[in-house]
Amino acid sequence: MPKAILLGSKSMLCKREIDIAQGQRGDYNGIILVLRRSYPYPEDPEVIRQNLLFSQNVVAKVGSRIVGSVSYTNVRVSKGEVVETPRYRKNKMYYVWGLAVLPEYRRRGIAARLVREAERDMYRKKANGYFGNAFSEEVAQWWVCMFGVRLRRLALDRLMTAGVPFEKRFRQEGFFEDLKTKCRELMSSLLTRTYTRAKTGIDESYKSRLH
Ligand SMILES: CC(C)(COP(=O)(O)OP(=O)(O)OC[C@H]1O[C@@H](n2cnc3c(N)ncnc32)[C@H](O)[C@@H]1OP(=O)(O)O)[C@@H](O)C(=O)NCCC(=O)NCCS
Repeated sequence: MPKAILLGSKSMLCKREIDIAQGQRGDYNGIILVLRRSYPYPEDPEVIRQNLLFSQNVVAKVGSRIVGSVSYTNVRVSKGEVVETPRYRKNKMYYVWGLAVLPEYRRRGIAARLVREAERDMYRKKANGYFGNAFSEEVAQWWVCMFGVRLRRLALDRLMTAGVPFEKRFRQEGFFEDLKTKCRELMSSLLTRTYTRAKTGIDESYKSRLH
């Protein structure tokens, strides 16, 4: 049988086996297990449980076993009270965390399906987008490629944390976003031109001094 047909039937089979759904309280132990197996320095299980309690969680299941999950939240605990996070209050941006798939289930598109479901839910809840912190440069590029997130390399609020901060907006901003891009382009072309002119001037004066 041709290889392409074999591969096709395998991936279709995997898709049917893996169930993507909103996580329930009974799923917490399974999610904690996935996170503890996926991250080199996982949080304490009780801390994860607390965070899960204040988040919405999407899980990937094979039968009753949890093999992957992603969480997102718009609240945090402050002085013993559950309050909206500042970025949600200001911009309706959710915080996405805890994306993980068990090693033996990776590279089957499970993470992409988890995030797609989380995005769909956040969008339905009228969020403007989400932000997060990619574990590594490679994972950050995965977010860019799969979900078109924007990496925020100069995010001052996150310069001290490890990882690559990113964000995604569900709506394209209008006139001012365009204006910002145009200004950036103009500035960069002006700087390039000034630099080229200065460099040519220096080169010429150096050459004339040599002769
Ligand atoms: C990151 C992680 C969640 C991905 O899970 P996954 O289910 O294997 O992801 P998917 O199958 O949806 O996506 C993998 C595919 O994305 C594509 N991909 C990945 N990086 C890419 C990139 N930079 N450019 C283009 N495509 C890319 C590839 O096609 C890859 O499949 P391939 O390796 O077979 O070619 C998983 O590796 C994991 O749990 N890692 C440890 C914890 C972690 O780093 N979490 C992320 C925190 S932000």
